[in-house]
Amino acid sequence: MKKTSFPEGFMWGGAIAANQVEGAWNVDGKGMSVADVAKYKPNVDNKDYNAHLVMNKKIIEEAVLDQSEQWYPKRRGIDFYHHYKEDLALFAEMGFKTLRLSIAWTRLFPTGEELEPNQRGIDFYRNVFIEMKKLNIEPIVTLSHYEMPLALSVKYNGWVNRRVVDDFVRFAKVCIDEFDEYVSYWLTFNEVDSIHRHPFTTAGILEELSKEGEQEQDVYQALHHQFVAAALTTKYAHERNNGNQVGCMLTKLMTYPLTCAPIDVELTQHKNLENNFYADVQVKGYYPPLVLKNLENRGISIKMLDGDLEIIQLHTADFLSFSYYMSMAESGDENAERTPGNTVLGVKNPYLQASDWGWQIDPKGLKISLIELYDRYQVPLMIVENGFGAVDQLENGGIHDPYREAYFRAHFEQMKEAIDEGVNLIAYTSWAPIDLVSAGTSQMSKRYGFIYVDLDDEGKGSYKRLKKDSFHWYKEVIETNGASLFQ
Ligand code: BG6
Repeated sequence: MKKTSFPEGFMWGGAIAANQVEGAWNVDGKGMSVADVAKYKPNVDNKDYNAHLVMNKKIIEEAVLDQSEQWYPKRRGIDFYHHYKEDLALFAEMGFKTLRLSIAWTRLFPTGEELEPNQRGIDFYRNVFIEMKKLNIEPIVTLSHYEMPLALSVKYNGWVNRRVVDDFVRFAKVCIDEFDEYVSYWLTFNEVDSIHRHPFTTAGILEELSKEGEQEQDVYQALHHQFVAAALTTKYAHERNNGNQVGCMLTKLMTYPLTCAPIDVELTQHKNLENNFYADVQVKGYYPPLVLKNLENRGISIKMLDGDLEIIQLHTADFLSFSYYMSMAESGDENAERTPGNTVLGVKNPYLQASDWGWQIDPKGLKISLIELYDRYQVPLMIVENGFGAVDQLENGGIHDPYREAYFRAHFEQMKEAIDEGVNLIAYTSWAPIDLVSAGTSQMSKRYGFIYVDLDDEGKGSYKRLKKDSFHWYKEVIETNGASLFQ
């Protein structure tokens, strides 16, 4: 092995989510998910930066009445449902060892309450996995990626209601049983921490269904239910097949103090501790004492059933996976200039450049995150999302995207440094290998892929796939197991 290569067997690949690629939102028995009511909203207001993700019953009713796809881009995705063979072949051509993808709960259980799954949903995913097996692409499967049944949200206020634990575990068990032959790596909840930033997208929570003053309490309650459901899923997966590996997934939101003023450091510490809380529960198996005290101080009490804490303690994650896009700064000065990140607003860091969406590009922050997470948890790590949203221009029939290569190159170099310093990083899946619909704004024009999809924000286009320059570059990185980065 060349000194400059990544470790042997390193899993290079890409990551997608069902609701952002599949389309076919109402075919073959699929029910509506929370993603199917997300409207195209390109203009994010810096002050109220997550306002576009807030949902209420009125907006849902309008969306349900409107059966069109035009302003609901997640309904059409990039039509992966009908293009999956072509797309997987392109991923294989890039040399993918792995692909992270999610299973849409509503294809198997349209309202979430059915007791038996929809066979056509199972058939679709089985065909996808068969194809992946032929191409030697190892699946990493997310069970919940911002696409829970809409019916469970409206009827029960989503994960606030304990019964959703059973509904989810029923779905998870069907997936684990049905796809046992193909899947060994499972992720439970995508960015489990995001429940605080966008409770509807993550957990189907509608603020208006909570009692006055109990909104926050409900979010913690729902989160607790997700922790229990994740632990029960992990338990089942291990019992079913001891080759199964189940991971947690969090948004790594690295925050730096803007200055060394103690107040900046204290506020930063608070943010980073908050960001670690979720993996503390899912990897270490218990609620950290500081978090419990903080909840008590705020008058929040989570209802726990007998045995919940034991389940969480016994069935912890086998590995930790996370997304990493950007970092932020924090300051005690309320006038400090702010900039949006991945569904967060942070203080602008004068040392960093940002993407067109204001997300601050920080490869070193990825290395710092890897070191911090590995030191704290000492389980294998996977980076399951990292990438650069940009506007691409078609020039002479091609997409020349050196900016994308530069972003990835700088992040890969930092990953290598972390590995050389002892971090057990086992996989990297870029977000996203192919252009898809943005989770936050439902834009198509915020492009992440190595593969261009001819489709615009309004759904106009031929859906044709086209290799960008970065396609060939990433292919070489994988082919040489990272050595090409250092030549
Ligand atoms: C992550 C999500 O937070 O960020 C993805 O898990 C999402 O689903 C990605 O697509 C990038 O965010 P956006 O809003 O640019 O699509």
